[in-house]
Amino acid sequence: MALVSLRQVLDEATKGGYGVGAFHVNNMEQLQAIMEAARKTKSPVIVQASRGARKYANDRFLYHLMLAAEELYPEIPIVLHQDHGNSPETCISALDMGFTSAMMDGSLLEDGKTPSDFEYNVRVTKEVVGYAHARGASVEGELGTIGGIEDEHGSGKSRLTDPDQAVEFVERTGVDALAVAIGTSHGAYKFTRKPDATVLAMDLIVEIHKRLPNTHLVMHGSSSVPKELQDIINAYGGKLQPTWGVPIEEIQLGIQHGVRKVNVDTDSRLAITGAIRKVFAEQPEEFDPRSYLKPAREAMQELVIEKRMVDFGQAGHAGDYDPIPLSEMVSNYSKKTMENDKFK
Ligand code: G3H
Ligand code: 13P
Ligand code: ZN
Repeated sequence: MALVSLRQVLDEATKGGYGVGAFHVNNMEQLQAIMEAARKTKSPVIVQASRGARKYANDRFLYHLMLAAEELYPEIPIVLHQDHGNSPETCISALDMGFTSAMMDGSLLEDGKTPSDFEYNVRVTKEVVGYAHARGASVEGELGTIGGIEDEHGSGKSRLTDPDQAVEFVERTGVDALAVAIGTSHGAYKFTRKPDATVLAMDLIVEIHKRLPNTHLVMHGSSSVPKELQDIINAYGGKLQPTWGVPIEEIQLGIQHGVRKVNVDTDSRLAITGAIRKVFAEQPEEFDPRSYLKPAREAMQELVIEKRMVDFGQAGHAGDYDPIPLSEMVSNYSKKTMENDKFK
């Protein structure tokens, strides 16, 4: 198998009626957790790197880790995606390095904090689409803003996606996938109670999908922040305040209405931190990093990724299709022969 475009993986997910988790990678252990989970559940995967991850790990280290994943897991279709690109330059540098997909998050200005206007968003997104499609790679855009107080990828407030604007945005930019803002936010502190219909605008997803039935929708801020993971952290000296994430049933409802890519990072962080805290608390004499990184990797694999791959429905679908090389995607894009051609 090869590194494949986001477009191919999401087109296949549409055919199969399932969602695909997009999981974050910053280091070797996280990538190993994702790839082992993919092998165990026979899932196609989207591996994504934030700008922070690229800075933390260094682009070359990160990219070569991905090449190792491709070599060691030949049966798994892997999308290598730039998450929340803050400018065309960020996206282009990822694509030049070999990423097969990029998110141009033009809903915010380059600082990753200030909400932009619609015309700015259309302009920068269209620029990245032109660059990416000419290389067979895919593009995710965002309309509305995902709330979140984490640095540089959230305005702090949520501005819900307007369905009319969504139609115009997709028509004018030609994006392969669209992140919609429905009231979720990044990070662990999303909701102070279990969210219901008054908190999560699932009806917006239904409406946007009705208007754009051929556009792959993306849900950001989709960690479920499971209580069991919060409890592990707090049992071993952590100090997380009670909090609620996005219930799996709501994500599954979204998947029934066109959500194909589901972004999850916080849950992996919680699983890793809980496992490391446990070793530190129970075996304070340990100082070999492998003694805590191994359980951390296992926790991320078992408690998060495997579970989500089953929840989202991608499990069992790794072998459904042959990879389309990006060189062939170039002509697919230019000939406009894609199945969901109404993007154009
Ligand atoms: O978009 C949010 C992800 O959780 C990535 O976070 O920018 O801290 O790496 P990060
Ligand atoms: P979480 O913080 O809910 O995991 O969201 C991650 C995300 O949307 C990354 O783009
Ligand atoms: Zn996000």
